[in-house]
Amino acid sequence: MGRDVIVACDFSSKEEVLSFLDKFQGRKPFVKIGMELFYAEGPQIVKEIKARGHKIFLDLKLHDIPNTVKKSMNVLSNLDVDITNLHAGGTKRMMEAALEGLTREDGTRPLLIAVTQLTSTDQESMENDLLIKEPIDKVVMHYAKNAADAGLDGVVCSPLEAGKVHDTCGKDFLTITPGVRFADGDIGDQKRVMTPAEAKKIGSDYIVVGRPITAAADPVAAYERCIAEFVD
Ligand code: C5P
Repeated sequence: MGRDVIVACDFSSKEEVLSFLDKFQGRKPFVKIGMELFYAEGPQIVKEIKARGHKIFLDLKLHDIPNTVKKSMNVLSNLDVDITNLHAGGTKRMMEAALEGLTREDGTRPLLIAVTQLTSTDQESMENDLLIKEPIDKVVMHYAKNAADAGLDGVVCSPLEAGKVHDTCGKDFLTITPGVRFADGDIGDQKRVMTPAEAKKIGSDYIVVGRPITAAADPVAAYERCIAEFVD
């Protein structure tokens, strides 16, 4: 899979997401299904979107004891998604267990990506709430390295960190980057943003784009603009 645009389908019902995807007609964007939609509609919504021919990033961010994550990943591997994820904070042992659970009998598996520190966590909350005293960028790189050592395929990170993640973990270690906005667009609640063209320049492998596409007057045109800036 090469560079691609993943559309964050942050909807809370099957009706909303399917009518959104219907707008694309022949086009089949890579779709991110997060907790909101998954908890509302269950695994069936993953099967239905997959059956329509979309690639799927199932963004459930697992974080539990290794055995529970292993068994849960085993269940998720049956959904035949293309990418899924977990929290690197669950430790290397949890990540290794997750990979084991995700790998099917024939050796195939979805790509497995780690969340390092959420972008909603800042230095202050990390120090005060989590008692982690190191600089946040050092923590993010350390977690990325742990994920690479555990055999994972990449991390979710800010586009601003993508270059450094590649320097630390290798150019084939994937970077999936949200926080993308058009140069002339509304940034909403995202703080550190980049345009699709900038994300391409810095070496992101996948950009995750939600509201700039889902809330656009013409979502298909907004999607095509992302593709033109980031992929073509
Ligand atoms: O609408 P917007 O483009 O901001 O959506 C970005 C998507 O990426 C959302 O689904 C959000 O939950 C997700 N995300 C993020 N920042 C992270 C991890 C995930 O914005 N650090």
